[in-house]
Amino acid sequence: MACLGLTAAILAVWFLVIRLGGAEEVFYIAAVYEHKVILNPTPEKPVERRAALEHMKKNLDVYEEQAAISAKQGVQIIVFPEDGIHGFNYTRASIASYLETVPDPEVVTWSPCADPERFTNTEVLHRLSCIARKNRLFLVANMPDRQACSRATDPHCPPDGQYQFNTDVVFSDNGTLVARYHKQNLYFEASFDTPPKPEHTTFTTPFAGRFGVFTCFDILFKEPVVTLVEDMGIRQLVFPTAWMNQLPLLAAVQFQRSFSYSTGVTLLAANLRSAEMGMTGSGIYTPRETVYHHAMEGEQGKLLVSKVPVLDPLVAGGAAGRANLSSVPFSGHPKTVDREEEDKTCLLNDFQVDATQRKPEAKHCLKEESGCNEELLNEESTPFTSTMMYDNFTFVLLEGRQGNITVCDGSFCCHLLFRRSKPHEEELYVLGAFGGLHVIHGTYYLEVCALVRCTGQHKESCGGETDHAETLVDFQLDGTFSTKHIYAGVLGSGMTLYLPDRSGWESRGRFYMTRKGMTTGLVTAVLYGRVYEKDST
Ligand SMILES: *[C@@H]1O[C@H](CO)[C@@H](O)[C@H](O)[C@H]1NC(C)=O
Ligand SMILES: *[C@@H]1O[C@H](CO)[C@@H](O)[C@H](O)[C@H]1NC(C)=O
Ligand SMILES: *[C@@H]1O[C@H](CO)[C@@H](O)[C@H](O)[C@H]1NC(C)=O
Ligand SMILES: *[C@@H]1O[C@H](CO)[C@@H](O)[C@H](O)[C@H]1NC(C)=O
Ligand SMILES: *[C@@H]1O[C@H](CO)[C@@H](O)[C@H](O)[C@H]1NC(C)=O
Repeated sequence: MACLGLTAAILAVWFLVIRLGGAEEVFYIAAVYEHKVILNPTPEKPVERRAALEHMKKNLDVYEEQAAISAKQGVQIIVFPEDGIHGFNYTRASIASYLETVPDPEVVTWSPCADPERFTNTEVLHRLSCIARKNRLFLVANMPDRQACSRATDPHCPPDGQYQFNTDVVFSDNGTLVARYHKQNLYFEASFDTPPKPEHTTFTTPFAGRFGVFTCFDILFKEPVVTLVEDMGIRQLVFPTAWMNQLPLLAAVQFQRSFSYSTGVTLLAANLRSAEMGMTGSGIYTPRETVYHHAMEGEQGKLLVSKVPVLDPLVAGGAAGRANLSSVPFSGHPKTVDREEEDKTCLLNDFQVDATQRKPEAKHCLKEESGCNEELLNEESTPFTSTMMYDNFTFVLLEGRQGNITVCDGSFCCHLLFRRSKPHEEELYVLGAFGGLHVIHGTYYLEVCALVRCTGQHKESCGGETDHAETLVDFQLDGTFSTKHIYAGVLGSGMTLYLPDRSGWESRGRFYMTRKGMTTGLVTAVLYGRVYEKDST
């Protein structure tokens, strides 16, 4: 089931390709499919197995079609979304007929397509395996799994003697089941159980080495994904999701982009499409490049296909240079884009504004640099508190065309140097700080610095949802984070994704990012810090 509340503005279809850099590298071809899931209209009512299979067949037929289209384009791995076969909103009892027992591929080597009789009641596994085999591609899908357990030996075993798991399955290009992952961080999914221990699931492909597997809400937590990335050295992840967009900080493509950039991994993210649930946003992300899709209107599925550099450091001849750039997750990227010449100038000086608006004091910099170290005026407005995404942020308004402002929530402080193309009378922006436990729709400890466009011209509108902005903003944003797990993101008007120019740790122990020269208005610039250790406080 889904991840986050609220609905996105849905206005047009976006399909963007960003290509930056590009040295000689080893590539493979990946696909993700954003699927408009065909739902069971009465998920709370139990049905016969036969009816469940008839329902799931409708979704599997679409998978088959998309896998065939992908195969024609040379795709070697395809990812389908969470809940894409069975749907959502079941109860623990009503999902019964949808469950299959997925054998542990670490214990059993099995191709359901080649050997369909080996395990009974495995029609969905059989179909997926045959789709993978027929089309000669690795296939990642999500389905509900039942695993028997014993209360006598396992204190976590549910009273009815079985676990029901939200499960990702992976088939190799010959139909063999090669991975099974049980979702760790459920998002109000009454039909499923949390696995007793986090599972760190990987599989190996002949074309790109190792991939890790995780699901939807997992992206906000340490287990399993941060362990996969930091401790196990996994640099390629498949990510089935059913994510409800939530601006200004957690729209699907926005956070997927931040995650891939900040961890330095490739993320193959497939979301469901449901206008009613505000679900859209899929993509193929490398730390620096992306192909992504955010549906603004319409309800159709969307296949994305892209050539992706191999990032697994264990693969000989892999993209060593690029992998190296991203080799330390969460360390930032000193320079993402080649802006050598611009880095030598005063960052604020060359920002293009109407010459008549250019004031003499515009001669300031985003960093202390020789020849331009005049202090910026920092006339700060009075801080105020307001909720953004259910958290009590402390905000200050951005006044004037440029400034140097700080806002603190307790001892956690955020600092911004900015220069913008339009006065605040036209579009209102705030800098917000929040350091504390998020408690609505999930419990997780945050340290967030966010520069957001308010939805209107009053303070009360700050923190609301908009995907539109016309003000170009050059900025440096930094904060006094106590965690190294910081996800940096820049979102432009119309759900356009940007990367920071640079990010990393400053000498004085603050994490920063800079960005200038965007060509669309700024909706959100955010450093989204997660303090995993404090989640249970
Ligand atoms: C599913 O449940 C969510 C709440 O968890 C609700 O908002 C939504 O309307 C339900 N959707 C359907 C299709 O029943
Ligand atoms: C099928 O694929 C798996 C995983 O890539 C591989 O280990 C196995 O050798 C393959 N089997 C055959 C019969 O090709
Ligand atoms: C990776 O970066 C480190 C430190 O910056 C450097 O010492 C090393 O030579 C680099 N390795 C490759 C393969 O480029
Ligand atoms: C911003 O303000 C702080 C103190 O308020 C000052 O130390 C810093 O030098 C200023 N930065 C710039 C670029 O003016
Ligand atoms: C946010 O602040 C308001 C007013 O100060 C308070 O009533 C509310 O409990 C706070 N919410 C959280 C989640 O801390």
